Amino acid sequence: MTGAAEGIGLSITKHLLEQGARVVINDINADALNEVVGVLDNKYPGNVGFTAGDASKLEVIDELIATAMHSFGTVDFAVANAGITLFGNFYEFSPENFDRVMHVNLKGAFFLTQRIAKALRKENKGGSVILMSSNVGILSYPNLTAYSMTKAALSMMARSLVLELAPYNITINAIAPGATVTKRTRTQEPDYEQAWASIIPRGKTAVPEDIAKSCLFLLSKDAEHINGETLVIDGGWSVIGQYPKN
Ligand SMILES: NC(=O)c1ccc[n+]([C@@H]2O[C@H](COP(=O)([O-])OP(=O)(O)OC[C@H]3O[C@@H](n4cnc5c(N)ncnc54)[C@H](O)[C@@H]3O)[C@@H](O)[C@H]2O)c1
Repeated sequence: MTGAAEGIGLSITKHLLEQGARVVINDINADALNEVVGVLDNKYPGNVGFTAGDASKLEVIDELIATAMHSFGTVDFAVANAGITLFGNFYEFSPENFDRVMHVNLKGAFFLTQRIAKALRKENKGGSVILMSSNVGILSYPNLTAYSMTKAALSMMARSLVLELAPYNITINAIAPGATVTKRTRTQEPDYEQAWASIIPRGKTAVPEDIAKSCLFLLSKDAEHINGETLVIDGGWSVIGQYPKN
């Protein structure tokens, strides 16, 4: 589980632990990760492992899986959640920012999937992978082209990898959240919640729990026939696709 010290990743982790899963969590922010691990380990002793570091780096991905094998002796699923949202005017967008968003959002997810699939294949018992896409991977959004491209690619990754993973009884699906209130989105835009609520048909922004509950469903046995799909969770925003006024 990558990018799990806060926001959607943390909420998915809590829901998984609540259901009795054992989870290895990762975050690039080591301090925040340590704090979260302390709290979770208190509540679910022995069920939480961790690997700090940049989830786009192969050594971090390998360590994450090694930690799961070492701590729990097995793996069942992976959630490639870590992602960065870099806004920027297309004409000014720097190659450095382009590389960064591609690395974290795509390379990290691709190689986490490759490494977990190898581990699952070795155990020969099947499993699941969830990729964290976005509804702006489906609709265009101003100043967000590089990010949107990565999120569209994640949906295609899920579709394409069905062919590689299904023979080993591994499913792969993507989740495409819409505007979801987290510390980051609130900090980036103080009136985020109201601005989005006014243009989402449901009249509300999502909270991380909305995404976490769907993720748990896709990881569950009830979803074993769902494969290569992208589940949009946006309160209906993408059927209209208006932008907030600012
Ligand atoms: N919040 C939203 O509105 C929204 C909407 C659509 C999609 N998403 C996607 O959902 C995922 C989670 O979003 P969020 O808003 O909860 O995220 P967030 O920005 O709140 O970050 C979650 C965590 O990821 C960590 N992180 C960042 N880069 C990392 C890296 N390279 N390696 C490891 N950890 C890293 C951060 O330190 C943070 O703790 C992302 O992939 C994001 O693109 C979010």
